[in-house]
Amino acid sequence: MLLFLARGVPLLLAHRTTTRCLSLLPRPVSVGSARIKFSTVFVSATGQNTTAMPERRPFVRLPTDVYPVNYGLSLKPDLIDFTFEGKLEALAEVTQATNQIVMNCADIDIITASFAPQGGEEINATGFNYQNEDEKVTLSFPSALQKGSGTLKIDYVGELNDKMKGFYRSKYTAPTGEIRYAAVTQFEATDARRAFPCWDEPAIKATFDITLIVPKDRVALSNMNVIDRKPYPEDENLVEVKFATTPIMSTYLVAFVIGEYDFVESQSSDGVTVRVYTPIGKAEQGKFALEVATKTLPFYKDYFSVPYPLPKIDLIAIADFAAGAMENWGLVTYRETALLIDPKNSCSSSKQWVALVVGHELAHQWFGNLVTMEWWTHLWLNEGFASWIEYLCVDHCFPEYDIWTQFVSADYTRALDLDALDSSHPIEVNVGHPSEVDEIFDAISYSKGASVIRMLHNYIGDEDFRKGMNAYLLKFQHKNASTEDLWDCLEEASGKPIAAVMGSWTKQMGFPIILVDQEQVSNDRILKISQKKFCASGPHDGEDCPSWMVPISICTSADPTCTKLKVLLDRPETTITLSGIGPDQWIKINPGTVGFYRIQYSSSMLESVLPGIRDLSLQPVDRLGLQNDLFSLLHKQADMQEEKNRIERVLGAISAPDLIQKVLNFALSKNHHLLLQCAFFTTRGQKN
Ligand code: BES
Ligand code: ZN
Repeated sequence: MLLFLARGVPLLLAHRTTTRCLSLLPRPVSVGSARIKFSTVFVSATGQNTTAMPERRPFVRLPTDVYPVNYGLSLKPDLIDFTFEGKLEALAEVTQATNQIVMNCADIDIITASFAPQGGEEINATGFNYQNEDEKVTLSFPSALQKGSGTLKIDYVGELNDKMKGFYRSKYTAPTGEIRYAAVTQFEATDARRAFPCWDEPAIKATFDITLIVPKDRVALSNMNVIDRKPYPEDENLVEVKFATTPIMSTYLVAFVIGEYDFVESQSSDGVTVRVYTPIGKAEQGKFALEVATKTLPFYKDYFSVPYPLPKIDLIAIADFAAGAMENWGLVTYRETALLIDPKNSCSSSKQWVALVVGHELAHQWFGNLVTMEWWTHLWLNEGFASWIEYLCVDHCFPEYDIWTQFVSADYTRALDLDALDSSHPIEVNVGHPSEVDEIFDAISYSKGASVIRMLHNYIGDEDFRKGMNAYLLKFQHKNASTEDLWDCLEEASGKPIAAVMGSWTKQMGFPIILVDQEQVSNDRILKISQKKFCASGPHDGEDCPSWMVPISICTSADPTCTKLKVLLDRPETTITLSGIGPDQWIKINPGTVGFYRIQYSSSMLESVLPGIRDLSLQPVDRLGLQNDLFSLLHKQADMQEEKNRIERVLGAISAPDLIQKVLNFALSKNHHLLLQCAFFTTRGQKN
């Protein structure tokens, strides 16, 4: 059965708001020009002042003269007043003498700051200059901080906001009916700076020692396991919970949760403690995700040949959650519908969705968390990769779901539809200011990203792909990497031109339509194959027609499940000879519907494949791909009676009722009489 699981464009993206100024607890005496709001007058091209659309400010990354090695972070949230107190003690390295430290910081009020060089006198900061627009603060010191290590101490206060980003409050109803609040985090892409002043860039990794001071009847969780829990000396209602030191990691993956939860627990076969935290009284609803997670962890360990590096992983359902899920290292957060399954009431599509989301976020524990993108430009790879491998994982753990058919019907066809529009964009877009991350994160990044990784995996073959992945993870573990670094490792493992092939798919928008014609010469089949850009708005006939390096595979009626020949189409057109193919055999391009392109067969080829559709020897994903291609072509060629008749015959031969339903729905949605005719024809064929 086809369940149309629509991949969410990350749900959080609708919730971004502009920075808000806080006025919390008493200000420090030593603040300089705290919270200066830049009021810029913009000058238009004609030289006139204008207060219209602000231009994009040039973005500058943090200076590298001071960087963190370890963050000692203690947080005391107040779940009644919705504020928190923070104490940061960061071990930092000064690489070049300086009398200022620039860090990221947003909606936080610093009370005191000092720097103590190792073995030297503590120096108090004399000014905190907030650059609100840039979400930065510059700490000024009266004398230069010399090259070497030291401890940066910052005491500050912040708000447990209601914006579902940074350190925020999440409302829930206790079993008694009382309204209560939990304190939770969502830091990706750039909101760790709302919870603590930090170097909030993915390439600036450090270890973290986190302590939470919380009411003693609440659950307190963070990335690592608890190593100490003791009464808080200043308040008998509070406890101080200390977590183990994290591995070196990026700030966007830090997380903490304080609230009331039940949990179910298990141990994965590789010795990792897995817990699924649910709202109180709903532990039963965490059991399915627990089963998925305990199966998934050993799958990835085996696939990557790298063990999961933390002693535990918690998966938690958060009542107010902007995204669908977030892969914080060791503490993965989910919206409730992406984690909880009610054994009595949930349907199969909900279970499949939970399995995919769990598979996605656990894949990030390696791909993203252990090896992290160097900058947000490479976020498409992080998300595209996880959006592909989640299916591989679910297919392994639950083969009965036939999940790849869902991939083709949901992600693949959606990406083709969107990417055929003139308004599409390349997968890889340069990200300057991190606020641009939200703008480019759409179905193209997720669904086309996943589709081109799937095509790449098929082009390389599983064995070499795994070899390359393993080399990449080992080479860059606990570090950062770029898209090119992955291509290099896969190129090395496979001996194939991966960077050139993939560049043609990621750096330009759109995809090709592959035109195929055939000729029989004695026992050989000669195929003429060419490519041109596929556009929903009509044929792309310009001189500047882009071209792709297209991995093409071919199967025949002798075994429609097996690839007979693979070629790389690296030019506008080519001729291929398939030997030992009798005139009665049919040929199909793109078995498994893995190539990210559409195919237009010549009339004779299309006619010849009809028996394979009728007797169902052509696989469901192949019939689905063929139907989808024909449909998109029919729409463009609706005035060509000859072509229409042929396509109708092919569609009529496709006998899966849900496909026919799709044809019908599409035809009706387009209000297109020819399509409608075609759909009726198909339906009639089915009923008869
Ligand atoms: N890391 C993302 C969430 C994210 C992306 C947060 C970009 C901030 C910026 C997470 O792994 C993810 O992809 N979540 C998806 C669900 C997933 C199963 C497709 C989401 O939130 O929609
Ligand atoms: Zn993701």
